[in-house]
Amino acid sequence: MMHWLVAALVFTTLIVGFALANALAAYPTLLMLHKILGALIFVAMIARVVNRLRRQEPALPATVGRWERRAVIASEVSLYAALLAQPLIGWAMLTAAGVPVMVGPVRLPSLIPVDAGLYALLRNEHSVLAYALVILIAGHVAAVLLHTLTLRDGMLARMAIALPGAGQPGSTGTAPATMNGPSGDQLCSSSARDDDNASTPRGSAT
Ligand code: HEM
Repeated sequence: MMHWLVAALVFTTLIVGFALANALAAYPTLLMLHKILGALIFVAMIARVVNRLRRQEPALPATVGRWERRAVIASEVSLYAALLAQPLIGWAMLTAAGVPVMVGPVRLPSLIPVDAGLYALLRNEHSVLAYALVILIAGHVAAVLLHTLTLRDGMLARMAIALPGAGQPGSTGTAPATMNGPSGDQLCSSSARDDDNASTPRGSAT
């Protein structure tokens, strides 16, 4: 559930951010919306990190090989880091510009001194990180679609809202019965199996 909430927030914040950078009359409204969304992402990400530290993540399907598993962990760590850093950079960048940072009615404290050079640097970082997020998210979506549509291992179902069976340690997901491809278990016993990783709970990615 939290996964989809954060996904929707990030998608909207990116759209508003790119629109904002080119907006004229709507700039103040879009910036206020952007800051509120950014703050919500930050709070949601803190909650996700706490949650992940307290609970063990469900195992990845056995169709995810050793190197792919490493790539999944690396991309998740990068996504978490980027989503925690981006709101802080946005906040620091406005502080460096000497602008009072209001998120709705709340005025945030200054993070750093007013400094034009620092503002330029952070503004650039905010853009670079936004494009990096787009690339990371595209890779994440592509990998999930590849698994769901070609390997049919129920990867997408693992992220579904309250699907019975999804997300249980060792579960290969809940691929619908209508799917006529091999199940995760069948793939598990084929050459796609990677013993190093099969039904091993994921290491902490946070
Ligand atoms: C995860 C959270 C965030 C994401 C994904 C995000 C994304 C973006 C994107 C895509 C842009 C346009 C970049 C460009 O075209 O160069 C942008 C611009 C901006 N963002 Fe964010 N942002 C986030 C959080 C924040 C926060 C929390 C603040 C302030 C407290 C903020 C303040 C700004 C400002 C001031 C701009 C520049 C607008 C301009 O060009 O004048 N952002 N952001």
